[in-house]
Amino acid sequence: MMSRFIWLSQLFYLLLLLHFQLTSSSSSSFSSSSALLQVPLKLSQLSQLTSLDLSHNGFVYLEESFMKRLVKNLTKLRELQLDKVDMSLVSVRLIPASLENLTKVTEIFLKSSNFIGHIPRSLSFLKDLKYIDLSNNNFEGKIPNFLTIFTKLIEVDLSNNQLTSQISEFHRSNSLQILRVGNNKLYGSIPKSISNLANLIDLDISSNNLSGIVDFDKRTKLKYLQDLNLSYNS
Ligand SMILES: *[C@@H]1O[C@H](CO)[C@@H](O)[C@H](O)[C@H]1NC(C)=O
Ligand SMILES: *[C@@H]1O[C@H](CO)[C@@H](O)[C@H](O)[C@H]1NC(C)=O
Ligand SMILES: *[C@@H]1O[C@H](CO)[C@@H](O)[C@H](O)[C@H]1NC(C)=O
Ligand SMILES: *[C@@H]1O[C@H](CO)[C@@H](O)[C@H](O)[C@H]1NC(C)=O
Repeated sequence: MMSRFIWLSQLFYLLLLLHFQLTSSSSSSFSSSSALLQVPLKLSQLSQLTSLDLSHNGFVYLEESFMKRLVKNLTKLRELQLDKVDMSLVSVRLIPASLENLTKVTEIFLKSSNFIGHIPRSLSFLKDLKYIDLSNNNFEGKIPNFLTIFTKLIEVDLSNNQLTSQISEFHRSNSLQILRVGNNKLYGSIPKSISNLANLIDLDISSNNLSGIVDFDKRTKLKYLQDLNLSYNS
């Protein structure tokens, strides 16, 4: 109860801040985007925050100093929703350092955020991760280990990036329900263990350069599968 109350009061404070920043920035010329950037900087003082959702704010963009402060102070954060927040000013090199201290985070939504670079390896510190959506960015290079070794993952969407990676075998107790990695440059064999992902509902590995088969013989596995897209592979 108490923590919910704190959360609500902080949310209120956040809305006030946003309101203040928006009204002050609309009265000055809109090019003073620095006014908008101050919103997030103050946000980093909300050290009890467990959920941060700035998604679908076409006018907000985050800069590095915010990410730096965020990870120092928001150690209770569990949900980070920044879909469509322009992160092109945040160096992807910074994010690795950042994520390692957000170890309680279970949800990361960074869809369509103009990210360029590698997916941070420090994702592998976030062992409680359940939902991660990094789709529609320009992530390149390898998929960090988290995908196949974490056991609490429910939904992973890495589709529409430039990932050039093989997919290693999945941990036996992987809880994945939704796995979307379509439209990347993934190569190599489709991991055999994909057919052991007994909770899988939605699998999209389309438009990659993967080869091999998904084994549907084991009748007990993949029994919940509803959507399957294997198109455009080699
Ligand atoms: C962290 O939060 C405390 C109090 O909530 C605040 O005084 C401090 O300035 C914050 N630090 C940063 C880096 O924002
Ligand atoms: C992570 O936390 C440690 C210990 O609190 C701190 O020394 C370090 O600077 C933090 N890292 C980042 C990137 O904030
Ligand atoms: C399957 O994936 C292809 C390529 O990514 C896409 O064009 C197609 O619409 C998808 N099919 C379904 C049913 O979603
Ligand atoms: C696809 O992968 C094969 C080997 O697995 C490789 O020879 C081929 O060049 C790749 N094609 C593309 C378009 O990357």
